[in-house]
Amino acid sequence: MDRRRFLSWFGISWVAFAAATTGALSIVLRYLFPNVLFEPPTSFKAGFPSDYEVGVVDERWKEKYGAWIIRTAEGIYALATICTHLGCTPNWLSTENKFKCPCHGSGFYKTGINFEGPAPRPLERYRISLAEDGQILVDKSKKFQQEKGEWNNSESFLSL
Ligand code: FES
Repeated sequence: MDRRRFLSWFGISWVAFAAATTGALSIVLRYLFPNVLFEPPTSFKAGFPSDYEVGVVDERWKEKYGAWIIRTAEGIYALATICTHLGCTPNWLSTENKFKCPCHGSGFYKTGINFEGPAPRPLERYRISLAEDGQILVDKSKKFQQEKGEWNNSESFLSL
């Protein structure tokens, strides 16, 4: 084998070795850094009570945290944006003053109580409180169900 041919084979071998090493290294790195599902935090601060208008369904946290905040004359509650039929996300229809699920047509009053369609029970409420800085704190790790009488729990409603 002449010198030129030797160098050519040596170059090809070296490239193949580098490619194999890179492939193996990428597999090791993939093992060390697996796909991880990052869940959004279960609690969030939702601003100050004065940020919310009485009688209005506030949708600012719907996309990010899956919650509607509703302020009434008595206080504030946080409704889960999960239909109690099969889990779709209802829409708030302000002109009709109701939540309407696009999947099978369930309807819910502003309170979360179901009144039409196949949903078997009301929307759920999240734990709500005031943080030390005076902001509303919504904790999605704790839910309250109306049919179990849990809406009477003081943590399901923020009295003002
Ligand atoms: S999922 Fe909402 S009505 Fe079926």
